[in-house]
Amino acid sequence: GKKCRIGPSILNSDLSELASECQRMMDSGADYLHLDVMDGQFVPNLTFGHPVVKCLRPKLPGVFFDMHMMVQKPEQWIQNMADAGANQYTFHYEATDDPTTCIRKIREAGMKVGVGIKPKTAVDVLLPLVDLVDMVLIMTVEPGFGGQKFMADMMPKISFLREKYTDLEIEVDGGVSPSTIQHCADAGATMIVSGSAVVNSENPKETITYMRDIVNQ
Ligand code: DX5
Ligand code: ZN
Repeated sequence: GKKCRIGPSILNSDLSELASECQRMMDSGADYLHLDVMDGQFVPNLTFGHPVVKCLRPKLPGVFFDMHMMVQKPEQWIQNMADAGANQYTFHYEATDDPTTCIRKIREAGMKVGVGIKPKTAVDVLLPLVDLVDMVLIMTVEPGFGGQKFMADMMPKISFLREKYTDLEIEVDGGVSPSTIQHCADAGATMIVSGSAVVNSENPKETITYMRDIVNQ
């Protein structure tokens, strides 16, 4: 089957040591980094934006940055993120009136495109967009905070998409850990975000390897 990748979210790590925490994840075998951008509007929390990404870029050359844009009006940061060195721009369906234009602008800026949905959004809204994007993101917590409980009842969204689109990259994000990863594997996710379970692990390398082996089985 498809090769699955693990992308740690550094949201719950020591953000004063952001670059070294990212490096620690890469040294632990991460395939990419999932960077959570929050604007206090789309979600009730704040993190960081393109100025931070721009500083991280030269410290982590060659690392794939998947920007999870939990922001209202995602169009407004596309060029900034591209200039800062982001590789993929994952916006939320709920945050824009015009997802198609958003997708086109992300492509024009030279990034890969992801589109995500919150738990309460029906998976059907993604169907007209699937052929236009590189990845879809199925949230398994309400976006805004790390360390929340995995919503296993989101798995039918993933299996529904997997049944229709064999090759689609499907990312799962929120509460993914060694104890919930099997659900994601069974449903057909191929890009696995895991935050607190990896950064707080005593042995992140073992945790990442364990989860990847289950999904690649
Ligand atoms: C939640 C973020 C997630 C989160 C993942 O709003 O989008 O990426 O940080 O962290 P865990 O794995 O701890 O739920
Ligand atoms: Zn995220």
